[in-house]
Amino acid sequence: MSEKTALITGASSGIGKSFAEILAKEGYNLILVARRKQKLDTLAETLTKQFSIEAKVLVADLSKIEQIKVVEEAIKSLDNIDILVNNAGFGLSSSFAEGNYERQLDMVNIHVVASYMLSRATVPVMLRVNKGLIINVSSMSGLMTKLGDVTYTTTKAFLIVLSESLQEELKDTNIKIHALCPGMTYSEFHDTKDLEKFDRSTVPKRLWMSSKEVATKSLRAARKGKVVYVPGFLNRLSLLLSKLVFVRIISQWFIKRNEKKA
Ligand SMILES: NC(=O)c1ccc[n+]([C@@H]2O[C@H](COP(=O)([O-])OP(=O)(O)OC[C@H]3O[C@@H](n4cnc5c(N)ncnc54)[C@H](OP(=O)(O)O)[C@@H]3O)[C@@H](O)[C@H]2O)c1
Repeated sequence: MSEKTALITGASSGIGKSFAEILAKEGYNLILVARRKQKLDTLAETLTKQFSIEAKVLVADLSKIEQIKVVEEAIKSLDNIDILVNNAGFGLSSSFAEGNYERQLDMVNIHVVASYMLSRATVPVMLRVNKGLIINVSSMSGLMTKLGDVTYTTTKAFLIVLSESLQEELKDTNIKIHALCPGMTYSEFHDTKDLEKFDRSTVPKRLWMSSKEVATKSLRAARKGKVVYVPGFLNRLSLLLSKLVFVRIISQWFIKRNEKKA
């Protein structure tokens, strides 16, 4: 039986499920966290049979602090944790002032508080053996914070800053921290009630990636020590272009301002 352990939040679908499948294939024992027990049970059973690993299911709603604490305690009780994937999340598309406040707070708890608490519980366990990997699933939105829903972009930006800052603190250890910033990815993300107005067909097909592709590329980049990572050439190109456009607008603003002063 394998000695390696990975805990994945949001493992019941999409990118989290793909991480679980890839890591099971690599021989990791898994702790699968999300709310939908049946989906987690089915995944755990499939992966256990297919790859002779152990897969435990931990049902938790990470928008509730008390339930985050249950996952935190599970981590603290482990002898070792090799990989933590803070992946659970959802999207919003509303105005900051008029959006559903409960959902906005849920998002802060899932993206920010849960990732923070679970990382805080994990790092001391990893330090005991001086190795490990934490993947924080952020988004390209965390790098393009002037576009999109304020709560989503802000909470995703937090995950990037947390990763960079924590990696810096751990630079003399063998613990790697990785912020994954996917673009458009096929999953259940765009099927939730929060994004019911979103129409996948409005985004060109070539900009979409599969969850499996995103998780595979992320793991490869993380193991090479990449701290902030955008999977997919077209995503990286569009990020660059968005920055160039932004730089152009700023430069034009400076030029106009200086013209007025002159
Ligand atoms: N898909 C994209 O285009 C895209 C792009 C950039 C970033 N991302 C990020 O990728 C991550 C994974 O999303 P995905 O695309 O794989 O979407 P997904 O298929 O909807 O998966 C989301 C996962 O998060 C879990 N989750 C949601 N609310 C939760 C809660 N309150 N407590 C515990 N778990 C919860 C869901 O499980 P349960 O419903 O069973 O709880 C599910 O397993 C998210 O953080 C998302 O922001 C996605």
